[in-house]
Amino acid sequence: MRLQDLISECTNRLTLAQVSFGHGTTNAHDEASWLVLWSLGLPLDTDTTLIHSELSENQIHKAYKTIETRIQDRKPSAYLTGEAWLQGVPFFVDQRSIIPRSLIAECLVDGSIDPWLSIHTSQVLDLCTGNGSLAIICAMVYPDVKIDALDISVEALEVAQINLKRHLLEQRIKLVLSDCMEHAGGPYDLILCNPPYVNSKSMRELPEEYKAEPHLSLYGGEDGMDFIKRFLSDTPNYLCDTGVIVLEIGHERNNFEIAFPHLDCVWLQTSSTQDQVVLITKHQLTAFLQTQ
Ligand SMILES: C[S@@+](CC[C@H](N)C(=O)[O-])C[C@H]1O[C@@H](n2cnc3c(N)ncnc32)[C@H](O)[C@@H]1O
Repeated sequence: MRLQDLISECTNRLTLAQVSFGHGTTNAHDEASWLVLWSLGLPLDTDTTLIHSELSENQIHKAYKTIETRIQDRKPSAYLTGEAWLQGVPFFVDQRSIIPRSLIAECLVDGSIDPWLSIHTSQVLDLCTGNGSLAIICAMVYPDVKIDALDISVEALEVAQINLKRHLLEQRIKLVLSDCMEHAGGPYDLILCNPPYVNSKSMRELPEEYKAEPHLSLYGGEDGMDFIKRFLSDTPNYLCDTGVIVLEIGHERNNFEIAFPHLDCVWLQTSSTQDQVVLITKHQLTAFLQTQ
């Protein structure tokens, strides 16, 4: 059997087993390619069309075993391989933290936040940092900023620490154990936040793969807004006058608008979504809170 045939067979197995995607890939073929290449110790950017040699029994067995584990355990592949990629940056990951996939990473890399920043932007907060991926990508995009990266989970911060070390960013990113803004510093020019925002109904309907991630990372209360309400009411004091918040809210725009009626804000477009990342200036937030 050749590499491409093995990937086709594994694609069929994943499709038949109806595993769920969304943690790095969106379809069975990409997921099978990733797991087969990883099982064989080949780089993930291998051009599989160029490898025509016959695989050994041992190689085929290894790949099937990985696919079988993926199907049986219903855990995201990144928890099997110990690695996830976001915007081309590799991150270590295990079940102590959620798998990196925040849309905010795209907004950082494509420059869509830049109009609200300036040469004076220097203090950034990544609230709910988890694996540390947003803090790390932010540090790479803006080489002059310092970042506080806060999370309530000791376990998630252990994973973030591994990633800071891997990317040599321990001097620029400070990890802090904190319940919401409790141990925040500031004032900040930019606050990034990908919080737990999944509502109760959606939580019940989540595929098994998502349930393998820490509950604390996902669940945002009945309407998904528990953490966000607390965060937005606490935050104006931690922002510079020109400061902005970039907040991910997933599929919760409706609940967001019910919780924060008439909050003036800017929806940041990403390659696949129009209303899952919102930018709020200090001025907009203060004006809203004064009406409450
Ligand atoms: C959706 S994950 C985001 C992780 C990471 N920023 C990312 O985008 O991949 C949410 C994170 O919020 C953290 N969290 C939940 N409640 C919190 C709280 N009250 N204070 C601080 N962090 C909290 C969780 O531990 C989890 O790491």
